[in-house]
Amino acid sequence: MQKNLIPIPYDHPGATNQSACSTAQAWASQPRDPKPEEKAALIAHIKQMLKDQGAVLVAHYYVNSDLQDLAESSGGYVSDSLDMAKFGYEHPARTLVVAGVRFMGETAKILNPEKRVLMPDLEANCSLDLGCPADEFAAFCDAHPDRTVVVYANTSAQVKARADWMVTSSIALPIVRHLKEQGKKILWAPDRHLGRYIQEQTGADMLLWQGSCVVHDEFKLVALEELMAAHPAARVLVHPESPEPIIALADVVGSTTQLINASQALDAHEFIVATDNGILHKMRTLSPNKVFLEAPTRGYGATCVSCNHCPWMAMNGLLNLAEVLEQGNNEIHVERAVGERARVSIQRMLDFAKQINLPGKGLGNA
Ligand code: 13P
Ligand code: SF4
Repeated sequence: MQKNLIPIPYDHPGATNQSACSTAQAWASQPRDPKPEEKAALIAHIKQMLKDQGAVLVAHYYVNSDLQDLAESSGGYVSDSLDMAKFGYEHPARTLVVAGVRFMGETAKILNPEKRVLMPDLEANCSLDLGCPADEFAAFCDAHPDRTVVVYANTSAQVKARADWMVTSSIALPIVRHLKEQGKKILWAPDRHLGRYIQEQTGADMLLWQGSCVVHDEFKLVALEELMAAHPAARVLVHPESPEPIIALADVVGSTTQLINASQALDAHEFIVATDNGILHKMRTLSPNKVFLEAPTRGYGATCVSCNHCPWMAMNGLLNLAEVLEQGNNEIHVERAVGERARVSIQRMLDFAKQINLPGKGLGNA
């Protein structure tokens, strides 16, 4: 049950139809796939270019499986948004190629202003970022000067520059608990589902921006209950960007890395996974004998076909990655003053992660 909820005024910011039309644009801009017979040579060519340019590929679990495998087999990394930031920060490469969405590239650039940060497609955005414009967010913060501003990683550099702390889903709980212990009241943005979940778990006084993820918003309760009834032994793994009724059915709630760790650690044969289906590649690779089912996105009441795959993550492909390395285009730039301010909130999170020794990939932190 929810505790300490603060009533949300009807004109509370965050609701936007901008992300719906951007979603359609993203689906219309999917990169071409290489022909199957050309794939091996293309991958070898990309690996050579990464090597020649002293570049490293850092990918998220939601991008296509070829890119995830390529990141790992070329000395790069695939992980959740916190670990991606940490890896890029600690790695000596002069060029970071980020296969993910825009805020991940910007975070890498903010932490590494001296490095070149490239992305396969600079238009790869995120509905949470789009739903939290910096000027409206600044007005929201101005209206609540008594609150500590905590923003999710899925925001623009300008929004991070206005924040006291940046968090990701793997570290939001301990950071908000820490702030609550210090008696702080929190202004949270942009994801209302994650914010509500953190509020419920910590009992902190949180005022929530009303953004949401277009992918996780699609999970359907009745269809999920039916799938659970058909697979009674299955354990349910849920990303906290999902709506409350979906989270309420979870055995484990966590970041992408935490869900993957849980899929390995739990003594179950079947899992129902409520997050972007790009994650299944890693889960299936790590546990080839387990069965992973996708939580349904088309339940009763759905008015259109929906799916559990992020249209912006899907803008990353082998061909546009090769093109970026060949031409050196799609470089991320963050205005220096904005980057310096944003870095404070990101660095706080990284320092806190170190201080509490937050376990990451493969360390069983489910
Ligand atoms: P993670 O930090 O859990 O990888 O989440 C990022 C994200 O965008 C989920 O939709
Ligand atoms: Fe943003 Fe959702 Fe895509 Fe994650 S899955 S990048 S939160 S739109």
